[in-house]
Amino acid sequence: MSPILHWLSEASTHAAAVDRLFAAVTLLVLLLSAPVFFLTIAFAVRYRRGRLVDRRPVPNRNVWLEVSWTIIPFVLLVFFFIRATTLFVDLYQTPPGALQIDVVAKQWMWKFQHPEGQAEINELHVPAGQAVALTMASQDVIHSLFIPALRIKEDVVPGRYTHIWFKADEPGEYQLTCAEFCGTNHSVMGGHFIVMTPEDYADWLRGSGTDLSLAAQGEALFRSRGCSGCHGPSATVHAPKLEGLFGKTIPLQDGRMVTADAGYIRDSILLPQAAIAAGYPPIMPTYQNILGEDEVQKLVAYIQSLGGAKEQQ
Ligand code: CUA
Repeated sequence: MSPILHWLSEASTHAAAVDRLFAAVTLLVLLLSAPVFFLTIAFAVRYRRGRLVDRRPVPNRNVWLEVSWTIIPFVLLVFFFIRATTLFVDLYQTPPGALQIDVVAKQWMWKFQHPEGQAEINELHVPAGQAVALTMASQDVIHSLFIPALRIKEDVVPGRYTHIWFKADEPGEYQLTCAEFCGTNHSVMGGHFIVMTPEDYADWLRGSGTDLSLAAQGEALFRSRGCSGCHGPSATVHAPKLEGLFGKTIPLQDGRMVTADAGYIRDSILLPQAAIAAGYPPIMPTYQNILGEDEVQKLVAYIQSLGGAKEQQ
């Protein structure tokens, strides 16, 4: 497919809605600016120097005309503002039960981790007709995940998680790229976004072989990296229990309350001194530069699997 057709293909209802909005805004701008454009030319011709025309001021104003050309565009633009804001806000309201896929961006590749444990590089396979929620982390600089066929683009920022969700409807192969200049090979940081029927996706998962789910891989890391020494059931050290933690609101030493979501758990692993849970000594070592973002995502998946306030997040 040519690049321009890639650009125009719509893989979701969101994409179609964005296109309708864009076309409507373009049409409105043309309708509003065309009269100004043509009247400017017409008046310039009609009232040019040396032309014998009536140049006396018009005696009375037409108030209704003036009010109408203020009110009508105002109402139209407010309508567009509401429509665009609705679409925008919707991108950040992940529906419950969405398929959770983790994303790590680094110079210069994309890594995607599926909940069943499969990982892929520069390719993202998703089932059609199902909401997919992305939790994204950067290993180095700011990147931006851009999937033109979905009309979505979200920055991937070092030091925090960013989120976006989508529901692709049209099976097919589309483009996936980085839309934030991130260094020498920014232009080649991309690949394929592949929407499959749910049956094909299930086949693909089976064929992309791994025995361990993401949470199970996290559990293995939990032991091999020594987390279980303090957080495990037989630990003698006084460390917070992780069962039932996910999604709960917990008090911190400094009096703040935080929600133990994916972002908080990530920060607690990499920057444990930043937010100490109330009642616990600040003895947790940092895992910055020890664990990659992809490994942290596995640990987060494991801790999520231990149950909590919200099973789906
Ligand atoms: Cu990553 Cu541009």
